[in-house]
Amino acid sequence: MKNTMAILLAAGKGERMKSELAKVLHPIAGRPMIMYTLDTLAALGLAKVVIVVGHQKEKVQQAITERLRSGKLQLEYVEQDKQLGTGHAVLQCQRYLKSWKGNVLVLSGDVPLISRDALRTLQRSHAKAEAAASVLSMQLDRPGVYGRIVRDDEGAFQQIIEYRDAKPKQREIDEVNTGIYMFQGRYLFNGIKKLESNFKKGKGKAKEFYLTDMIALAVERGLPAQALCLDDAAEGLGVNSRSDLASAQRVMRNQINNGHMERGVSIRDPFTTFIDADVRIGQDSVIEPVVHLRGNTRIGKGTKVMLGSYIENSTVGNDARIRPHSVIEEASVGHGCSVGPNAHLRPGADMAAGSSVGNYVEIKKSKIGAGSKVNHMSYIGDANIGQNVNIGAGTITCNYDGLGKYQTLVEDEAFIGSDCQLVAPIKIHRGAYVGSGSTITHDVPAGALSMTRARQETKEGWVDRWRKLRIVRQQKIEQGEQAKQEEDEKKPAPDKKS
Ligand code: UD1
Ligand code: CA
Repeated sequence: MKNTMAILLAAGKGERMKSELAKVLHPIAGRPMIMYTLDTLAALGLAKVVIVVGHQKEKVQQAITERLRSGKLQLEYVEQDKQLGTGHAVLQCQRYLKSWKGNVLVLSGDVPLISRDALRTLQRSHAKAEAAASVLSMQLDRPGVYGRIVRDDEGAFQQIIEYRDAKPKQREIDEVNTGIYMFQGRYLFNGIKKLESNFKKGKGKAKEFYLTDMIALAVERGLPAQALCLDDAAEGLGVNSRSDLASAQRVMRNQINNGHMERGVSIRDPFTTFIDADVRIGQDSVIEPVVHLRGNTRIGKGTKVMLGSYIENSTVGNDARIRPHSVIEEASVGHGCSVGPNAHLRPGADMAAGSSVGNYVEIKKSKIGAGSKVNHMSYIGDANIGQNVNIGAGTITCNYDGLGKYQTLVEDEAFIGSDCQLVAPIKIHRGAYVGSGSTITHDVPAGALSMTRARQETKEGWVDRWRKLRIVRQQKIEQGEQAKQEEDEKKPAPDKKS
């Protein structure tokens, strides 16, 4: 579409969202909703895209710059100081429209599900009909508050009437405006100025001027205008409220899950699987129910992410096992690793190939070397664990003294017994052993055994002796209590009257 430029309307606050965040920045599957429209536009090969910003313009612009995937889009920003309606928003683009001879595609930033195909169809039909204005419409069982497509008895398109301005009969119309239009550039440039002057003349009457009035104006001038109905009405969903947002999420989630399944990923229960738009998953991986994969997570091939796991902005290699209910955030899991069940990999956790982190283990900002194991109820923080190291059950790196964080180094082949505390900064050298139950505060040399627990003492026959002693003590107590009771009974009863 080299002869087409686009105007994307994104200046509104989105009152009905009841939010501090500009509407077009509300995320759908982890991506601000406006980015979906920009992705779609990028695929069309347009001459340029002018984005009208206003409410939270810096934030909107920043989000777009950060998240834009395609470098192909030529983006321009235009500011709309006061949000005086969709017509007024387009008016702000006059300097781009002035010299533009081609077509102009106008879209709202809150219609995120529209497809490339629908826009291409609109463009072809617009060209074929040599229309001044073409509108994408949709047919809805419950047309809600969308603008209505008004046709005459012959079916010729007459105008778009906004719901709030529509008469009861017009409200019954089930064909509605998606807010997506193709205009002849010349007609848009002249027409929008006309709408502005009408708006100014009718001072005080209307608070806004509507882009939708460009249709009635075309009809008035005898220029061809048409409404083209979408095949799939789901694409035209306009997001105005939190409940619309949830509907858009549902549609998008379906599309994303289907895309992964088409590329050879098994999703056991798509209805309870939430995968963000930017997530990538390799072939033959299996995603079990109630899994969340968020942000720019990457999952390799042949990996299994089991029931109830949550992975955000993390990388997982090939043939790994993420066992049930594990949480992985900003971490890296190598090929063939095993994680969980119930493990927590926090930011900076970095597991080399073939390592394993098991039940109720928390890892933070630590490297776990190839083939090493931290399998049961441990906390490893600010540590560098070498290769083929065994960290026994319940081992804890004491990395924090209330002021600073300190490093624990455990070299290759070392063996840390169960229930140890490694008080950082500390280094366990290559192949060293640490005995179970030790609190280690000094470095352990290579090949040495270090332990800090008290020597074991054994007292033969102690249990029997102790039991007998206990029985005698108990009998004495009971005898004493009985004697006291007998003495009390001998005393005269107290006089109730006194
Ligand atoms: C609009 C259409 C309605 C259509 C619906 C489809 C008008 C008058 N109405 O209604 O016919 O059925 O979309 O979803 O166009 N915006 C600005 N500046 C403004 C006002 C709005 O940039 O001054 C932007 C908004 O940020 C939004 C888009 O334009 O992205 C549409 O505005 P919105 O208020 O959501 O219009 P609707 O009431 O949904
Ligand atoms: Ca809207």
